[in-house]
Amino acid sequence: MKKNILEIFSKTFNYEEGVRTFFSPGRVNLIGEHTDYNGGNVFPCAISFGTYGAISLRDDKVVRMYSGNFVDKGVISFNIDNLRNEKEHDWANYPKGVIEILRQNGYNVQQGFDMVVFGNIPNGAGLSSSASLELLMAVMINEIFKFNIDRVELVKFCQMSENDFIGVNCGIMDQFSIGMGQKNRAILLDCNTLIYKYSTVDLKDEVIVIANTNKRRGLADSKYNERRRECEKALRELQGELKINSLGELTEEEFEKNKHLIKDEIRIKRAKHAVYENQRTLKAVNALEENDIVTFGKLMNESHSSLRDDYEVTGKELDTLVELALNHEGTIGSRMTGAGFGGCTVSIIKKDKVEDFINVVGQKYKEIIGYDADFYVANIGEGTREI
Ligand code: GLA
Repeated sequence: MKKNILEIFSKTFNYEEGVRTFFSPGRVNLIGEHTDYNGGNVFPCAISFGTYGAISLRDDKVVRMYSGNFVDKGVISFNIDNLRNEKEHDWANYPKGVIEILRQNGYNVQQGFDMVVFGNIPNGAGLSSSASLELLMAVMINEIFKFNIDRVELVKFCQMSENDFIGVNCGIMDQFSIGMGQKNRAILLDCNTLIYKYSTVDLKDEVIVIANTNKRRGLADSKYNERRRECEKALRELQGELKINSLGELTEEEFEKNKHLIKDEIRIKRAKHAVYENQRTLKAVNALEENDIVTFGKLMNESHSSLRDDYEVTGKELDTLVELALNHEGTIGSRMTGAGFGGCTVSIIKKDKVEDFINVVGQKYKEIIGYDADFYVANIGEGTREI
């Protein structure tokens, strides 16, 4: 891939000397969905699919960017002192936003550069191609300008860019898992305190399978921000009597005792998901650490039911994939992953049944939904880095 990205660079800009190459992964969340912005825990990992990039500094203020995934957009060019979100700059707004946020925070990016990117994360699949691109830009800038910015700081800048420059009110999970990923390890992250620990995912007889519904979704036009608002309102209602800063601080019992404070059935369901999912995540990590993969799988299944019934962010495609998975003998656990409404499921599947799983679930999915799902056996890889 390093060779490929260098080739794209030299074809686009007609030189190759002094070019540095980087890789930034995508992510899959094993459990802890829609908990990050509710002050709860998540348990994601970086995957081996991701975004490759090549970059070289220029001696003027011109920035030129090209993506091998959006060839029809051609080379996008702008001045380093003119960083605005421009509709026609499309994908380039993601890296542009990162530069702007770095500048706003005192990092003097004054010099232009040439850059190409090429990613193999299926677009719009909910595996965080946007956060992957953001971290790619952040790490590249950090390296070529020798800023020496701490990795967690970079992660925060990338989230800030997605929130303020792109306008998507996401939590910190995606950027954190991509920036901080480690091989064969998932990250238990408390999104309230940003305290985290790595947990080895040492599956012997099972593999992680990601299945893409191929139903496209965009976060910005999904009901993502609506769910956030519902949870924020539920929190305010609870705060009428409880001294809490986030839903993530509540146990299931505390929630049940106080849910009458929330004056709307829908909001009770949303808050219930946030509280129970957070506790489920902690239980799941404990189970994994005790090598109890069966309990881990059960908690994944419960997570999906809660996202379907209480949080209502699944949809026919995701529910069909999970239901088909649960009917297959190779499945230990299965759930939607990411924001929902489309995108992917993540499943733990017995190694010797994977082929049959993909055939059977794939075929039935097509019969029911009318088009194919895609399946990938996921490897847990390292975070964003120079290659
Ligand atoms: C998206 C957001 C994350 C997180 C998930 C849901 O991926 O970017 O911050 O909220 O949805 O868990």
